[in-house]
Amino acid sequence: MVSNGSGASRDFDDQAVEILRQNDLGGFTIPRHGLYPYQWNWDSGFVALGFATFDTDRAWRELETLLEAQWPNGMVPHIVFRANDPDYFPGPDVWGVSVDPPTSGYSQPPVATSAARRLAELDQSTAGRDRARALFPKLLRWHRWFHEARDPQSLGVIATAHPWEGGRDNSPDWDGPMAAVDTSGVGEYQRRDTEHVDPEMRPKKHDYDRYLALIQFGRENGWDPAKTAQSSPFWVADPGTTMILIRADRDLRWLADLLGEDDAVREIDAWIERAEDGVQRLWNEELGAYCALDLRSGKLADGLTNASFLAFYAGLNHRDRNDRLIANLRRVLGEVRFGVPSLDPAHSKFDPLRYWRGPTWAVMNFLLAQGLRDTGYEDLATRLRDDTRELVKISGFNEYYCPLTGRGCGGADFSWTAAIWLTWVSPSQTSLAA
Ligand code: DGY
Repeated sequence: MVSNGSGASRDFDDQAVEILRQNDLGGFTIPRHGLYPYQWNWDSGFVALGFATFDTDRAWRELETLLEAQWPNGMVPHIVFRANDPDYFPGPDVWGVSVDPPTSGYSQPPVATSAARRLAELDQSTAGRDRARALFPKLLRWHRWFHEARDPQSLGVIATAHPWEGGRDNSPDWDGPMAAVDTSGVGEYQRRDTEHVDPEMRPKKHDYDRYLALIQFGRENGWDPAKTAQSSPFWVADPGTTMILIRADRDLRWLADLLGEDDAVREIDAWIERAEDGVQRLWNEELGAYCALDLRSGKLADGLTNASFLAFYAGLNHRDRNDRLIANLRRVLGEVRFGVPSLDPAHSKFDPLRYWRGPTWAVMNFLLAQGLRDTGYEDLATRLRDDTRELVKISGFNEYYCPLTGRGCGGADFSWTAAIWLTWVSPSQTSLAA
């Protein structure tokens, strides 16, 4: 795997490999023992890239086990529950999804597709080609599910039916639409996350009540995508999911080209074209940023978040808008020691420790830096990598970090941060430098 590293970097490389090994439950990786004891969808996409630096077979396996949980309708669930583990709430019984293995009822941003492309680039063996060929139709069906089930009106933006579907659980992006969710049927429940992590770093009860009310809605409606689009109390176009899907569509198209899947190339091209137009609906002119759009009320959120800057990762080339985004990014980076915070520090809801309301995330930095580098902002991409390296050195492989002090937050020894170290941050990593 890694080579030429200094002694100290090699220690971090070894620690990162050790974390992935410890969280590997045999073909799939859990994000963190106790806090998240199952396979999570977008975590596995990042984790596959970490494994790719030292175990190609295991990297493919991570994506294969995730796709084994695909639903008949193409959806790839955000949690795969292979066995019940009382350390986590809400577990499989709460979701009431009758598939084998049991899963949650929502999806997550398709980072796994971009990981599959990266693996196919790195592993050009016949076996690697065969594995890419086997994954391709599943990925295609998953993307079709996003474009149909989560964009039934062909708006070119992707709706999320639960904050967990976009992966940025308690972002202020959702505060407006979540306020309208009726929680009267939720009743008593026992959270487990706050037994593992300082409650100051987690979503509040107000958020959890609504997370559970939305699960109840999905369950009562048999997880039917048409009913969800029609009447889910939460139906919000997410800049994060929309941008990550645009990038993933481009990577899926690359795979389709590689595999000679011409019909798929045409289908994917149409998705990309529609999304490049549609995503402009998320532009908030006053703020100079892409924001969440509540598709029920028509209201745009007012938060500049780290997802706003995924425009570069998506390859959007709206010159004036990109300039405004870069000005915003430079300002935000001037206000923190470790970028990119998940919310603008100038926003009244900025909370530097509370999950997606301020903290900096290594995985988001990795995506953002790829987009910035592709667009020619090498200095900003380098800043993000240096900041991420510093965070790991100061605090270890945490789930997320305080952008002001570098304090490690959430779960420790976290799989996706270890993976990002290996694939992008380690000074001894040369093969996948972003
Ligand atoms: C959690 O349980 O906090 C997860 O983010 C849900 O996906």
